Amino acid sequence: MGRIIAVANQKGGVGKTTTSINLAACLAEKGKKVLAVDMDPQGNLTSGLGVDKNNLDLTIYNAMRDDCNVGECMIVHPLENQRLNLSLLPSSRELAGAEVEFIEMEKPQYILKQLLSKIRDKFDFVIIDCPPALGLLTVNSMTAADTVLVPIQCEFFALDGLTQLMYTINLIKKQLNKTLEIEGVVFTMFDSRTNLSLEVVENVKENLDQFIYKTIIPRNVRLAEAPSFGLPINLYDSRSAGAQGYRDLADEVINNKLYANM
Ligand SMILES: Nc1ncnc2c1ncn2[C@@H]1O[C@H](COP(=O)(O)OP(=O)(O)O)[C@@H](O)[C@H]1O
Ligand SMILES: [Mg+2]
Repeated sequence: MGRIIAVANQKGGVGKTTTSINLAACLAEKGKKVLAVDMDPQGNLTSGLGVDKNNLDLTIYNAMRDDCNVGECMIVHPLENQRLNLSLLPSSRELAGAEVEFIEMEKPQYILKQLLSKIRDKFDFVIIDCPPALGLLTVNSMTAADTVLVPIQCEFFALDGLTQLMYTINLIKKQLNKTLEIEGVVFTMFDSRTNLSLEVVENVKENLDQFIYKTIIPRNVRLAEAPSFGLPINLYDSRSAGAQGYRDLADEVINNKLYANM
């Protein structure tokens, strides 16, 4: 059964989308069957995988509204000619209204879980990119997920908001998804030229009682450039430090002890 990982942190700009795209692509490069799910109305994961988000007839929004079934909005091999076993459930700007629209539906927190339950068996990994908020779309993502992966940016306010995030994860565990676990924390945008990055890593390690991945994703301009070419880092610049970082993270995720019994 596929492992469903929600990449979440309510802060914007911490590397959720960069991590979702590149972890998904590096897992696929290692021969895993991967589905990337874009739950952010901004659609950066969708465009980062080379799909024109303004030109889609059907998206995950339609599947969530039951306008179509989930297979109809899935894009198989968005990265044409690359032979990565990667599929995508693309986002739509209309998802921004989900908070108001879906709340009317029966069990609105379980919409994504129900969609994914029909297809998760076809994949080894499902990676969900969450929006920068703790609203209904993130609740749907965490309710559908086995684990939450939390990217933390190596900057001064790194720990701000983490208490609230952990509180939300625990609440979802209690009320909506009893088996939800925290996959781990991954540091992003580490700048080896500054002391600040090192201090942040040390400080978070001292204050956070969660599994922290050994891999630290460096600040790497190639990672920032790749989405404008619609490519993940391993296809954009295979030999960059960013590509190496996400390959290492993919190895660690594959070997995470949490899954020893699955
Ligand atoms: N390791 C990195 N090195 C350089 N730039 C990065 C790195 N990770 C993310 N970025 C850039 O930082 C910005 C925010 O990252 P993003 O993944 O979109 O964050 P989020 O999804 O949490 O809002 C983007 O412009 C992205 O290209
Ligand atoms: Mg994002």
